[in-house]
Amino acid sequence: MSRFEGKVAIVTGSASGMGKATALRLASEGAKVVLADINEEGNQATAAEIDAAGGVCSAFAFNAMEEESCKALVANAVETYGQLDVLVNVAGIAGFYHLEELTNDIFQRFMSINMTSVFTLCREAIPHLKKTKGNIVNFASLNSKTMTAYQTAYCASKAAVLAITKCIAQEFEADGVRANAICPGGIETPLVQGIRFPEEINRRLLANLQPLGRRGTADEVAALAAFLASDEASYISGEDIFIDGGARSAI
Ligand SMILES: NC(=O)c1ccc[n+]([C@@H]2O[C@H](COP(=O)([O-])OP(=O)(O)OC[C@H]3O[C@@H](n4cnc5c(N)ncnc54)[C@H](O)[C@@H]3O)[C@@H](O)[C@H]2O)c1
Repeated sequence: MSRFEGKVAIVTGSASGMGKATALRLASEGAKVVLADINEEGNQATAAEIDAAGGVCSAFAFNAMEEESCKALVANAVETYGQLDVLVNVAGIAGFYHLEELTNDIFQRFMSINMTSVFTLCREAIPHLKKTKGNIVNFASLNSKTMTAYQTAYCASKAAVLAITKCIAQEFEADGVRANAICPGGIETPLVQGIRFPEEINRRLLANLQPLGRRGTADEVAALAAFLASDEASYISGEDIFIDGGARSAI
């Protein structure tokens, strides 16, 4: 299948987990992919996998916390490949904190990486996406609608991603630009494997985090991202699509 032949995509968070899986998937379907991550070694490894499979990509050292880096990423993609068709915002962090230990610095870090970078990259990409009638796929979370104890910063940042996505979908609908959000439940990635809980938490309050049966895979989410980014989803915009094995409907 070559749904992305002739298309150019930016994928953030491409060094690991769902960003990596999405980058590999888009490249395997013909997209030229700009890989953007703060983890340069991981990003080079993703690039090497795409190269080995005969795909086209370039790796960009990117820090989602810096506005200039977001601007440079979009400019680099357009300079390198001449256009931009798809922006997939995957880079993000997660973590659990007692509210009393959630300092403003930590809170701002969540907002900066998970929310502000998404806003900035969308704003920078829009003029180029208007030219190609392209689209945006933003990674939110099950926790953008289902709020959880000890995740005030994470949930706030991900709820904001939905708001940003839906506002953009409305504002640029007439220009033929779509924007959608993916809301994963528990997906088996390095992020989830690295989660540490603070001491003395009330585990009963985390009951809604239990996945149904199993965790999802990064490839299952990448398949959804590729569908939403493709012309097959041409009448889908402003949506939040949950991919959580049924967890949300059980809450
Ligand atoms: N894994 C899950 O269960 C789950 C569930 C819901 C939502 N999500 C969201 O999906 C996205 C991907 O998660 P994942 O599980 O694949 O995580 P992951 O940790 O495997 O990958 C995240 C990537 O983001 C990059 N990143 C972090 N901070 C960055 C920064 N400042 N600048 C540039 N890159 C940065 C990391 O280097 C990493 O490669 C995240 O936004 C996460 O919040 C994950």
